[in-house]
Amino acid sequence: MRNLPIIALDFKSAEEVNTFLDQFDEELCVKIGMELFYQTGPEFIQSLKKRGHDIFLDLKLHDIPNTVSKAMEGLARLDVDLVNVHAAGGLKMMEEAKKGLRKYNPDTKIIAVTQLTSTTEAQLREEQNIQTSIEEAVLHYARLTHKAGLDGVVCSPLEAELISQELGPEFMKVTPGIRPKGAAQNDQQRITTPEDAKVLGSTHIVVGRPITQSDDPASSYQNIKESWLG
Ligand code: C5P
Repeated sequence: MRNLPIIALDFKSAEEVNTFLDQFDEELCVKIGMELFYQTGPEFIQSLKKRGHDIFLDLKLHDIPNTVSKAMEGLARLDVDLVNVHAAGGLKMMEEAKKGLRKYNPDTKIIAVTQLTSTTEAQLREEQNIQTSIEEAVLHYARLTHKAGLDGVVCSPLEAELISQELGPEFMKVTPGIRPKGAAQNDQQRITTPEDAKVLGSTHIVVGRPITQSDDPASSYQNIKESWLG
């Protein structure tokens, strides 16, 4: 995965995505989530690849180890750059996910979601019955992900620093919750600027609405890219 900001393509249809991408005349890093993938399927991924874009397929797999392994064998054939699972699925599930992926693909990176950025500490305690802080819960899942041999985690930039200190700068920290100075916060709770994310140890940033909902997506992207690359 190139070191460019990853644009979250949170659109309803392939047509909307294509209209959006037509505004750019360069190769990008893009994130396809389940909303779009469930409607457009593998063919759409191939069309994005033909345009030269790097792809993070954000499907957050979470099931028994055997099922996730077989699902990863299928995703391996799509030859995207990055896929993910939920760390909550456990050590064995993550190990099997990687094995399934590696059966047909030596290159695709695989990371794990720690705690969703939408999860509050109250939910952690009351719904998941995890009696620690969010930071500790995230660090715990990051350690488990590292132990399973995966390439990194999805986390908030505010947690990236701690994870970097313990698991090293190379361990991927893919961080949403990015807002340039002055941009709308939307529903994100714990946000940082692209510059701060870099200082805190993010290896990749994911940016959606500040680009996709902008009046001028191409120039918003350029500004974020410059802030991120420094
Ligand atoms: O529009 P915005 O920049 O908030 O988009 C962030 C993207 O990252 C969305 O696609 C969202 O689903 C995703 N994401 C997130 N927090 C996570 C994991 C994924 O915001 N923990």
